[in-house]
Amino acid sequence: MELKYKDHIVEKIIDASGRTVLPGLVDAHTHPVWAGDRVHEFSMKLAGATYMDIYEAGGGIHFTVNHTRQATEDELYGLLKQRLMRMLANGTVLVEGKSGYGLDTENEIKMLRVLERAKRELPIDISSTFCGAHAVPKNQTAEEATENVLTQQIPEVMRLQEMGELHVDSIDVFCEKGVFNIDQSRKILEAGRQAGLRLNFHADELTPTCGTEMGASLGAEAMSHLEEISQEGIAAMALKPSVAVILPTTAYLLRLKPPPVRQMINQGVPVALGSDFNPNAHCLSMPLVMNLACVLFGMTLPEALVAATINAAAALGKQKTHGSLEVGKYGDLLILNAPRWEHLVYQMGDNQQIIGKVIKRGCVV
Ligand code: NIG
Ligand code: FE
Repeated sequence: MELKYKDHIVEKIIDASGRTVLPGLVDAHTHPVWAGDRVHEFSMKLAGATYMDIYEAGGGIHFTVNHTRQATEDELYGLLKQRLMRMLANGTVLVEGKSGYGLDTENEIKMLRVLERAKRELPIDISSTFCGAHAVPKNQTAEEATENVLTQQIPEVMRLQEMGELHVDSIDVFCEKGVFNIDQSRKILEAGRQAGLRLNFHADELTPTCGTEMGASLGAEAMSHLEEISQEGIAAMALKPSVAVILPTTAYLLRLKPPPVRQMINQGVPVALGSDFNPNAHCLSMPLVMNLACVLFGMTLPEALVAATINAAAALGKQKTHGSLEVGKYGDLLILNAPRWEHLVYQMGDNQQIIGKVIKRGCVV
């Protein structure tokens, strides 16, 4: 009998002699569903504009929201498919994907539906995150936007979840000065928790707000960015433990303070990596993310590998199926055209030469 996974036939014997076999990579934080790139903002940032200058002037996330609202589900799916297939070619077999460029019930659900279609049709696993509180819509206050997320968006997402039309794992909020404050973020996360979602949100990125302490008090499974995390925040994450999802592309592009990764690891915080793929940080490659994590944040190569496999899977609650090569897990692996795995990170920016085969659930894809 021929074994198949989606459109791919299972190969029985592959000769990998002289090469290296690694677990498939896991990307713990991405914003992959959107229309309208922001290449024009790249030069603005190089000329000195900050992320918040651009956001407050109506660009940034707002620019992407306008384009994403106008796009149809089919258009968004076409864009998402290209991006996910490029991630897969770069070795990613499980990716977290957020909504967050709709900012109203109809458009947030449109984004989540596009992710569901990708789960059905593409040979890559996706963990969906509802991020209706990713920005404050231009015509609302943060208080009004919070109310809208609580009374309109979450109930509708959960209604569709109960009907089996959506499979959302986590809830996210951009907890940041000038976006959602601590109280608003806490309310949204608590409502998500009550609805049965995992908590996995943007904390202490641009300014220190003690978002991490708030997240730890709610038992958040993961928190992302953390450039501005406090000492108390590190201790609180270690205690839970909550997975720190570190996003080197954003820190690099926005020239942010490096997150205190060494201290986190020393204190026992599990550290994971994500590409943070979004229109601000257009990176589809986890090997490049690993390279940045090593060079910019002082991670060792083995730490970067753990962070891009089993710890990233744990950030998504998928450590029983993904993130390592073990009996009983999915057969997701990479065969590298190299005698040492470190070539994947060392030969930066040219992953597809190094990654000879990507194998997803036993099938070459
Ligand atoms: O993780 N900080 C909020 N969200 C994204 C950026 C999204 C955007 O700029 O479109 C991030 O960096
Ligand atoms: Fe993000």
